[in-house]
Amino acid sequence: MLGEFIAEGFHRNTYRHKDNPLWIIKVAKGKRGSNFNKFNILCNKYEYEVWHNAKNAIKQHLVPCLWISDTYEYLICIRGKKVSEFKIPKILKEYVFKEDMKKAKNWVEINEKTLLADYPELHKDYLITRHKYKKCKL
Ligand SMILES: Nc1ncnc2c1ncn2[C@@H]1O[C@H](COP(=O)(O)OP(=O)(O)OP(=O)(O)O)[C@@H](O)[C@H]1O
Ligand SMILES: [Mg+2]
Repeated sequence: MLGEFIAEGFHRNTYRHKDNPLWIIKVAKGKRGSNFNKFNILCNKYEYEVWHNAKNAIKQHLVPCLWISDTYEYLICIRGKKVSEFKIPKILKEYVFKEDMKKAKNWVEINEKTLLADYPELHKDYLITRHKYKKCKL
C-alpha cells in the first residue's frame, strides 16, 4: 500500500499510495518508530471524523479523507500539491482557528483550490484528550 515517502509530521508520516497517484497515506508514528503515543493514532481518527461530521461551510476547505484502517494507524486522503502561499478562509479564521493553520506545510492545492491538510484539532474531543494524555505522560 505504501509508495514513496512524502513528508514527516510530528504525529504522522505521509507517503504516496503505491497504486493510486491521487491518494496519500498518513501513517501514525509508533510501533516500529520513536515518538509513539496514542495521540498519534488519535490524530488520524479525529481527522477522519472531522471530515465526516463537518458542515459543508467548513468541509469545503478541508482535504477529503477517504478511508481509515481498523486501528486508525493508516489514513488515506486525496493527494495535493505543496503551496507556498495561502489565505486562511474567513470561516476557519473566525470559528475554528488553530495556530497550525498559519503554516504553509499544512495546506495543499487540489483542483486549483487550497485546502487544509492537517486538521485533527478541529475535533471536539481534541483538547480533552490532549490534556488527559499530557497528565499521564503518555
Ligand atoms: N493531502 C496531502 N497531500 C500531500 N501532502 C500531504 C497531504 N497531507 C499531508 N501532507 C504532507 O505530510 C506532512 C505531514 O502531514 P500532517 O501535517 O497531517 O501530519 P502531522 O503529524 O499532524 O503534522 P504536524 O507536525 O503539523 O503536527 C504535511 O506537512 C505535508 O507536507
Ligand atoms: Mg502538519
